[in-house]
Formats: sequence, C-alpha cells, structure tokens
Amino acid sequence: MRISVIGCGYLGAVHAACMAELGHEVIGVDVDPAKIEYLRRGEAPFFEPGLPELLESAMATGRLRFEEAPALEELADVNVHFIAVGTPQKDDTGAADLTYVTSAVALLLEAIPEGSHPVVVGKSTVPVGTAEALAEILEARGITLVWNPEFLREGFAVQDTLSPDRIVYGVSNDPEHAQRGRAALDEVYASLLASGIPQIVTTYPTAELVKVAANSFLATKISFINAMAELCEATGGDVADLAEAIGHDDRIGKKFLRAGVGFGGGCLPKDIRAFMARAEELGVADAVAFLNEVDAINLRRRDRVVDLATKALDGDVTGRRITVLGAAFKPNSDDVRDSPALDVARRLADMGAAVTVTDPEALPTVRRVAPGLPLEPDTQVALEGADLVVLLTEWREYVDLDPASVRTLVARPVLIDGRNAIDPAHWREAGWTYTGLGRPAAP
Ligand code: UDX
Repeated sequence: MRISVIGCGYLGAVHAACMAELGHEVIGVDVDPAKIEYLRRGEAPFFEPGLPELLESAMATGRLRFEEAPALEELADVNVHFIAVGTPQKDDTGAADLTYVTSAVALLLEAIPEGSHPVVVGKSTVPVGTAEALAEILEARGITLVWNPEFLREGFAVQDTLSPDRIVYGVSNDPEHAQRGRAALDEVYASLLASGIPQIVTTYPTAELVKVAANSFLATKISFINAMAELCEATGGDVADLAEAIGHDDRIGKKFLRAGVGFGGGCLPKDIRAFMARAEELGVADAVAFLNEVDAINLRRRDRVVDLATKALDGDVTGRRITVLGAAFKPNSDDVRDSPALDVARRLADMGAAVTVTDPEALPTVRRVAPGLPLEPDTQVALEGADLVVLLTEWREYVDLDPASVRTLVARPVLIDGRNAIDPAHWREAGWTYTGLGRPAAP
C-alpha cells in the first residue's frame, strides 16, 4: 500500500516508521522543516527507545521518506492517508484545539485529485463528533474516512504500534464508505490482524469515545490509589501494601496502581480536560463530573510533595539546597509536558529554594521550557551538598542508587520518594530519613 502520514510529531513519526516496517511505502509530511530534517537523517526529534533504529532501517529500504508540507504531488497517488497531527489543549476550558486537524484535511482536499477515492484515517485524539463532521466534507468528494484511535505509550511506542492490544475502526454510516474504509485498513494492518490482535469495528462516535474512555479510566485508576494514599497518610496505613493487596483481585488488577506524585504527560491530563469540556458542550457534564475530582486529586499530590519538602526543611525552604531527581513526566521519556516533577521543582524554586534538577534525557527540553531553573546532568554532582533529595521520576539509575555512597555526597541524608520507587528499609538502614507518599513514617 502507498501510505501518507500527515503530522510527524510523536504519534506520526512512530506510525510512519512502523507502517514502513510492515512493508508499506510511506511518506511522512510535516509543516515543520526542522522536524523533517531530523527524520530525513534517520534521527527522532524526541527520545523514544527503538525508534532511531527503526527509522534508519526503514529509510535504508527506500520505503520511508519525509517531505515538508504541502508536498501536493507526492500525496496525489496515495491509497491511505493517516492524520496524526496534535490536538493541544486550547485554553482554560481545557477544550481541544482542532486547528491542525482542520488544516490536515484542507491539505488532503487540495492534494487528492478529483475523481480519486483514497481512504483518510484519523488517528489524532479528537472530541467526539469530529469524525462525523469531517466525513460529511470528505464524502462529498467521494473520499472515505475511518477513525482509528491510537493507544501508544511513550517509551513503548514502537512495541505498542506493532503489537497493539486492540485495533479499533470507527466507520461511516454509509455502507459503501464503511466497507471501503474497512477493506483498506484491513490491508494496511493485514499482518497484525493475522496474528490475532482483536479488532473492533464500530461507529465514529464510539471509536472517538474509546480513546478518551481508556485514558479517563487509566487516570481514574491512578487518582483512586492516590486518594487512598491520602487516607493512608491520615491513618498510618501503607498505600503500597494496600495496592498490592487489592491488585491480587483480577477484577481490579495490579497495573496503574502506583501511588505517587501523580500522572502527567501529553495525554492523560489533556484528554480528561478535553473530555469534560466536550461533555459540557453536549449537555452531559454530570456524566464525567468525577473527572474533575480525578484531576484535583492528581494536582493535590504535587502540593503534598511541596508540603513534605517544606516540612523536611523545618518550615522554610529559602536558600536550602534541594536536588530534584527527574524532570520527565515518566522514565524512558524526555517529555516534560504537564510533568509533575518539573512542576514541583519550579514551585520549590519559586519559594526561594536552591533547586538543582537532574534527568538523564529531559534536560535539553527543560532548558527550553524553564530557562531559569538550575540543571545538572551529572547525578553525583547534582547530589553534592543537598539538604534534601526529592525523587520525582523513577529512572532506573535513580532507583538503583546506593544509599550509602549517596550519603557521602549530600549535606543531610533526607529523601522524599515521590514515586514510592525505592525500598524504604534499605535507605533507612543506611541512615536516611525516608518519606514516601501514602506510606508510614519510620517505625
Ligand atoms: C498514556 C496511555 O497509557 C496511552 O495508552 C495513551 O495512548 C497515551 O497516554 P503515556 O502518556 O505515554 O500513555 O504514559 P503512561 O505510561 O500511561 O503514564 C502516564 C502518567 O501516569 C505518568 O506520569 C506516570 O508516571 C503516571 N502513572 C502511571 C502513575 O502515577 N501511576 C501508575 O501506576 C501508572
């Protein structure tokens, strides 16, 4: 199949490389010349394990290339166009900004010759109702639309694209377009479907809702356990033991029950806010009002870390040296969008603390978005002379730190583990004052 991917950001670059890996001929298009330059060199413009290798091998086969938009001629004879542009949060209402989706559709309408009937596939996360509106415009030109949400996780994006948990198609109410769309995507994903990956074929609104419902559920699970952490803090309970105990019930499951400083990143926070904004527009705000609480619990965990840090420094952080381990919203990522770690670091710095932030991958991004924040790439140097260490992103190298040798670097052996990622007993034995979230103080 000849495939285009419009938008070569996180989702699009990974999707383009993976489609070439499946054997298709792929052209990735983006309006940002810098991004295209990177990708043409076989480099990813962001940190994603496995992607540079995949880009390099796909480009070596000649099946993958990248062009700066509009690239009208290159798009003219494509069978399936994927839209993978961003839908950022628009304003304080949290609604999704659809500008890039609208311009991608406009670009395709210009590029697709009259009388040609390719299939357009939406992958971006959009407010429910968007696909139906776009289908009306596209079908008027004989072009078929399928909505095919993406569930990839950063850090596992290649693996999640090449062996997803499920493949969802939202198809047109018009049987002919539905049939054509399904057949084209079945051909694109033939090898995945042959391996038995579950396929759900449904309507446009259902497909759009599947994506936000999945992310809302995941966010709710995290906030649920973080709410239990608040209860544990008030009662002396231990949220890690509690999560393990309830997780043994298969109906609950162990995953996504790690209490800590909460969720961040480019998806969960934005998606739940956009979902609430859309539900409000639809007059069904009550149905998702609980997501307000999910968001509020999540943000309260950041306050909790700031409070614990202040308490650990005898009520005043001014001038005190705080080493923040981690800036990315999670390990194996250089993404700091809505990162709890970066938020806490900034707040402590704003309160007058002498904060030093370290992270194995995210510092170049932090330098751009938080220019005033002192950064130190070397973990050992960052730890020197610290009055307090706060672990906020559970990179392997931080979890594996040896408490005895770190103790020789710091001024005071006091640690707040904002991810409940390290063994309290091990650190306490080495003389540290350890505080987790939702975990009891030392016996
Ligand atoms: C998420 C969804 O998992 C993915 O399916 C969707 O397509 C995009 O959004 P991602 O944003 O890459 O993926 O990160 P994820 O691994 O889900 O983690 C999100 C946040 O939740 C991180 O900040 C992480 O630290 C936090 N988290 C996760 C917890 O605090 N506790 C947990 O138990 C799990």
